[in-house]
Amino acid sequence: MSTGQKPTLRIVVLISGSGSNLQSLIDACINNKIKAQITAVISNKPNVKGVERATAANIPALIIDHRDFSSRQEFDLHLLEAIKSFEPDLVVLAGFMRILTPDFVNQFEGKLLNIHPSLLPAYQGLDTHQRAIAAGDSKAGATVHFVTPELDGGPPILQAEVAIMPADSTQDLAERVLKMEHEIYPTVVQWFCDGRLTAENGKAFLDGAIIGSNGILFDINNER
Ligand code: GRF
Repeated sequence: MSTGQKPTLRIVVLISGSGSNLQSLIDACINNKIKAQITAVISNKPNVKGVERATAANIPALIIDHRDFSSRQEFDLHLLEAIKSFEPDLVVLAGFMRILTPDFVNQFEGKLLNIHPSLLPAYQGLDTHQRAIAAGDSKAGATVHFVTPELDGGPPILQAEVAIMPADSTQDLAERVLKMEHEIYPTVVQWFCDGRLTAENGKAFLDGAIIGSNGILFDINNER
């Protein structure tokens, strides 16, 4: 007999490091902003702070060290099996520093999110803040996007901008951007869990309306 209650959505989060974005998601679940449960955290690196954060929140944390596998394919296959065992509705990459094979990515079409520390499509790949400063840009930021086989190339969903100050070091800028990441990632995961965010044919949609190629610009005073 149905209780009439919707089943709780299940999220698996993949990390490689500090896990501050993971923490923002854990906090948003605790505060009921995100109506879902993080059922597992998987790290490809041992001894990282993100694993401690998961354990402190009573979330099962698994280490699947990529160095234990002889190829990217083999690692991805193992990772895929581990993720599937948790039957997630959504998989969230939160500072997960491994390139995933197309075979892996294609298993999670429309159910795989990433956060990238640049205003995509600018500065795909690594060293984004350093490159933005070196180019003399006046602004930087972060983008949450659906993941497709093209690295950092999936459809953007939500973007936050910050100013680059003349005296900024890479570290200064990274900290300013990270603060915004902690705003936009829980927001996007909330949209997904509320059934408002979808992906189809390489495009992202919010409330059925197509999202433009730079994503929605985040406005802290006007949350949707
Ligand atoms: C973030 O800047 C994220 O955009 C990038 O890696 C960093 C991860 O930080 N992909 P954390 O592990 O969430 O603290």
